[in-house]
Amino acid sequence: MSSPQSTIPVAKPVLGEEEAEAARRVILSGWVTQGPEVAAFEKEFAAFVGTVHACAVSNCTTALHLALMAVDVGSGDEVITVSHSFIATANAVRYCGAVPVFVDIEPDGYNIDPSLIEAAITPRTKAILCVHQLGMPCNLRSIVEIGKRHSLPVIEDAACASGSEILWEGCWEKIGKPHGDIACFSFHPRKVVTTGDGGMLTTANPEYDRKFRLWRQHGMSVTDAVRHGSKQVIFEDYDELGFNYRMTDLQAAVGRVQLRRLPELIAQRRRFASQYCERLSTIPGLSIPAEPRWARSNWQSFCVRLSDEIDQRAVMQALLDQGISTRRGVMNIHLEGAYVDKGSHRVATSLTRSVSAQQQTVILPLYAQMTELDIIRVCEALRPTLADASIGRVIRHPEKDVVPA
Ligand SMILES: Cc1ncc(COP(=O)(O)O)c(C=O)c1O
Repeated sequence: MSSPQSTIPVAKPVLGEEEAEAARRVILSGWVTQGPEVAAFEKEFAAFVGTVHACAVSNCTTALHLALMAVDVGSGDEVITVSHSFIATANAVRYCGAVPVFVDIEPDGYNIDPSLIEAAITPRTKAILCVHQLGMPCNLRSIVEIGKRHSLPVIEDAACASGSEILWEGCWEKIGKPHGDIACFSFHPRKVVTTGDGGMLTTANPEYDRKFRLWRQHGMSVTDAVRHGSKQVIFEDYDELGFNYRMTDLQAAVGRVQLRRLPELIAQRRRFASQYCERLSTIPGLSIPAEPRWARSNWQSFCVRLSDEIDQRAVMQALLDQGISTRRGVMNIHLEGAYVDKGSHRVATSLTRSVSAQQQTVILPLYAQMTELDIIRVCEALRPTLADASIGRVIRHPEKDVVPA
């Protein structure tokens, strides 16, 4: 339980003795990079999401890069995605020499609006890269249908969505089965489960999986593990350009423990999310997130929306002054310096919903070790903060020193 003075962070990984013991076991085994623990983590992750192939890599950005390469995205191609995402989503497209094409998000959420995708397709379109933003499944059913109609592969940026679920043909299924062609996960510490850094690709396509395994380890034809275990001398070849995108066995051993914790972590997050919803629903000027009928979020982030006249930065500062850490909602990639160059991307629709979401959203603290009292403290701090109408008027244009009349 936290005292009134203690700081409530926005997120906190759950790492304990079991993870420490797993790392210790690997260190003492003498095999510390991509080896038996990675293989076991892949098997267990595949079983968890309900698929055949899972390939571990160094992070989700490298997973996205390999996924795009596997579906043959290359120089001059276009990939339809959102600007309203972490910058890695679009960066991975650019690593392939291709152009991210941005469409807007839905009016009532933070995921791609499927109704805008078809108009953005051109003869250069090579793939659709959708994001399950903040752990909330996007409208995959519609996106997969569009992909099929236009023979375009669908890649899911599931960085935040380990353990999130979607209603698919009447059954709840884990994100990553995958419902598109390939799904990419992150195990960064801001995610629900972590390996420090780390990523995973899942697919039902054995040829994609073969390519991931080749490319993640320098394009090496025979892995270290196979050569090590062989009674015969083996010389490996390097016929294709590969990368060092390996996950270490240290990370994988931690990941295996985290994966066992995942169902309980999600259950806890879902309990906190519903407590937030209950307590925040009556606060004027605030909208709470909602799950579509066909989605179950892992609540990787709990993102609230402020009404237009309320100043986001001022609210965040007021909460920080009371020891409550928050984050601005999701960024807009096209507004960043790395995307100033016109050739770096194409904007296919108005992005006003994406931009206003960035300006009006705040991510509240949510992590498994929170207590109900922490939730109450956040909600009670928010109510008077939002009620203070002067917040919006005084700080909306701080650079101009605007003071209410
Ligand atoms: C939507 C999204 N895509 C990709 C990434 C990149 O993940 P990683 O840090 O594992 O490379 C993130 C990380 O926050 C993300 O939120």
